[in-house]
Amino acid sequence: MPSKILIVGACGQIGSELTLALRDIHGENAVIASDIKAPTSPELSGGPFEILDATDYESFKSIVTTHDIDTVYMMAAMLSGTAEKFPEKGWDLNMTSLFNVLNLGKENLINKIFWPSSIAVFGPTTPKVDTPQQTVMEPTTVYGISKQAGERWCAYYHKRYGVDVRSIRYPGLISYKTPPGGGTTDYAIEIFHEALKSQKYTSFLSAETALPMMYMDDAIHATISIMDAPSDSVKIRSSYNLAGVSFTPEELYKEIKKQIPDFELAYETDFRQAIADSWPNSIDDTEARTDWGWRHDFNLEMIVKEMLEGVKSLEEVK
Ligand SMILES: NC(=O)c1ccc[n+]([C@@H]2O[C@H](COP(=O)([O-])OP(=O)(O)OC[C@H]3O[C@@H](n4cnc5c(N)ncnc54)[C@H](O)[C@@H]3O)[C@@H](O)[C@H]2O)c1
Repeated sequence: MPSKILIVGACGQIGSELTLALRDIHGENAVIASDIKAPTSPELSGGPFEILDATDYESFKSIVTTHDIDTVYMMAAMLSGTAEKFPEKGWDLNMTSLFNVLNLGKENLINKIFWPSSIAVFGPTTPKVDTPQQTVMEPTTVYGISKQAGERWCAYYHKRYGVDVRSIRYPGLISYKTPPGGGTTDYAIEIFHEALKSQKYTSFLSAETALPMMYMDDAIHATISIMDAPSDSVKIRSSYNLAGVSFTPEELYKEIKKQIPDFELAYETDFRQAIADSWPNSIDDTEARTDWGWRHDFNLEMIVKEMLEGVKSLEEVK
């Protein structure tokens, strides 16, 4: 029997695309999607689906044993913008869900775990340009604190209990299939919807705020690559830096304007500006490239082209 995969948080921005990508590779029945809420997308309902609260260890364990799960992708979390509004809930969800999956690994109920970290582990005292893998990390958001603590626990469970946990520090991810989940880089998705709908958008980040970003296809490719890599080539067991592109709202606007000349961008910053100001402008991901062969494909021009075509096709279906 092929080894089975469980995706937790499968209805989210990344989980939904990851589920479909893994089902393409391993077959529909080998990939169990799960989330605290039922799926709304017909594509996700196409294969096995379980309602699962990742903070409930006994239910988690029961699904893992019932389906004979080998590998878990733990994608449930509260993202940066939302966690600033609900700090304790954010901390609780992000840490409890991680401990639950790590403990399933410790009990030898599963063999392999993917858990994403984020560029939010860095803070205002981190070098901002080409931020190295190992550097000062003093995050100032609840989300960043939970991701940094999570990274240390991943490294600890690997060293102390031999748990095969692998992780990537995702930058801001851009996709059109599922709405973003309350992060600080959500502007870079909303802008495409509004550019096509009303030719106007108001950015909640300032014109010159450069942030590391990545197209979803690259992120899914990276996730599957690190999980497929031989265990001894995954040398970093906290989390790997990962870079795609880096741009500001103004640079994105200019690229969209090449396709939609009437498009107008205004700026009205909110609480997310302070979060963005505490994060790096660009990332050095040499270790991921050297250890397990990471390469990104999508530059800004390609992202804009794919996003405009993708969002347009969604509107046509509606
Ligand atoms: N999207 C990004 O740009 C980005 C960047 C860096 C890191 N990440 C990380 O990647 C992971 C996935 O992010 P995303 O953007 O897909 O998030 P999302 O908010 O779009 O999706 C999270 C999913 O988890 C589910 N969920 C919430 N509480 C749950 C619980 N108790 N049990 C089970 N499911 C629960 C939600 O219903 C949702 O479907 C998170 O760990 C996030 O921190 C995302």
